[in-house]
Amino acid sequence: MSRRFQLKEIFSKEIKDTEGCVKGWVKSVRTAKWGAFVVINDGSAQKDLQCVVDATLANFETTVKQLTIGCSVSVTGKLVESQGKVKSIEMQTTQIELIGNVMEDYPLQKKATSLEFLREVAHLRSRTNTFGAVFRIRHHLAFATHKFFHDRGFFYLHTPIITSSDCEGAGEMFRVSTLDLKNPPLNDKKQIDFTKDYFARETFLNVSGQLEAETYALGMGAVYTFGPTFRSENSNTARHLSEFWMVEPEVAFNDLDDNAQLATDYLKYLISYAMEHCPEEMAFLHGNYSPDLGKTLMHVLESPFEKITYTNAVEIIKKSNKKFEYGTVEWGKDLQTEHERFLAEEHFKRPVIVTDYPKAIKAFYMKQGQDGKTVRAMDVLVPGVGEIIGGSQREDDLEKLKTRMKEMHLPEENYWWYLDLRRFGSVPHAGFGLGFERAVMYITGMTNIRDVIAFPRFPRNAEF
Ligand code: 4AD
Ligand code: MG
Repeated sequence: MSRRFQLKEIFSKEIKDTEGCVKGWVKSVRTAKWGAFVVINDGSAQKDLQCVVDATLANFETTVKQLTIGCSVSVTGKLVESQGKVKSIEMQTTQIELIGNVMEDYPLQKKATSLEFLREVAHLRSRTNTFGAVFRIRHHLAFATHKFFHDRGFFYLHTPIITSSDCEGAGEMFRVSTLDLKNPPLNDKKQIDFTKDYFARETFLNVSGQLEAETYALGMGAVYTFGPTFRSENSNTARHLSEFWMVEPEVAFNDLDDNAQLATDYLKYLISYAMEHCPEEMAFLHGNYSPDLGKTLMHVLESPFEKITYTNAVEIIKKSNKKFEYGTVEWGKDLQTEHERFLAEEHFKRPVIVTDYPKAIKAFYMKQGQDGKTVRAMDVLVPGVGEIIGGSQREDDLEKLKTRMKEMHLPEENYWWYLDLRRFGSVPHAGFGLGFERAVMYITGMTNIRDVIAFPRFPRNAEF
């Protein structure tokens, strides 16, 4: 039996004058008197493999001529350099076997492939050129994430998915409960008695692994989490998901400048890793969806990120006199996506790190600034996406943190362990969260977040 090859191996190692077998799905079939071209792909590479089939093959009439798009096949033969203008490898077929036939109504016909349509057949879209490319890049970015942090001495920490604390304090959490919805136990005040629930308390899906990551950073120095994150915010946009993946490094003894540098190095590493390991996927996606992105990303690698304060950003936005859909911004208000994109896309034309936001619009754990008004926060904004990273130096002063929690009505008893970190050998520390899907969007040039995660979860949708 001849050895089975992946297309990726065949093309990258230029395997030729070798007997072999490939298994995959038919992309197209062209028949003629002499025989047929059967083009297949196994999902491992952007490029398809052309299999040349002679009409003298025993099952030419019964199998080869009946093949349609989507059929799965096993093809055996000799890999050779093709004769065409562009040098490539093709298969001189000696045997072809139908593995799985296609019944009628196969949705992935050549033409019907708008991204909107493909979202409705998300279980089949991995077979298209576009989704193969996106998800190979996504894989490489995940691998690059582990490599980047591992090579820098970070430890990968798995933080819990079920939690009782609201890290971001935004109240956008999905409840985890085994109580009977129709007949929940009530307490004396006629409120639901969560002490009767599975964990004997209210629990939720995490909105971030940060608080738990901080505890391990303050024992192991540098850790990162990379896991699923859940938010029940009612945001039906092209940049929000209800379930997304976040990469969260947390480092003891780092301040905000160290944090910004780490974020810059990490983002640049992701870009260059994708360029090096997925050049064909990148070229395909940029060519089809974001023509100038390749050049722009090269430029990003070569130049430092812009760094400005929130106060500065507000001045720039106001001075621009640009008409924004939701109006301009006043100091103290959060930047809208359109403001963030204006800064990154039009004003600076590259990634921008905005620091020192008003404390009223940021989470309780951020380190308070000298001025009493701001916190040592940082958001990284990139062209095409807007906010891709949110992070901060953390408040390491016990009293300041307790006061802030009181102001924000966070029950101290839920966070006793978090406060302990400030009681026992507290140190300055900092971290951030990168929205993994937003990073995939930025690097691939895909403009809808629902096209960079296998099965998107968003309000009123949990199909598949
Ligand atoms: O800015 P966020 O809310 O920060 C945190 O959760 C911190 N606890 C992170 C940390 O410091 N360890 O979220 C971080 C990033 C955002 O910049 C964005 O890229 C992404 O997570 N994000 C979302 N991505 C997709 N869908 C959503 N609903 C998202 N919400 C946040
Ligand atoms: Mg944020």
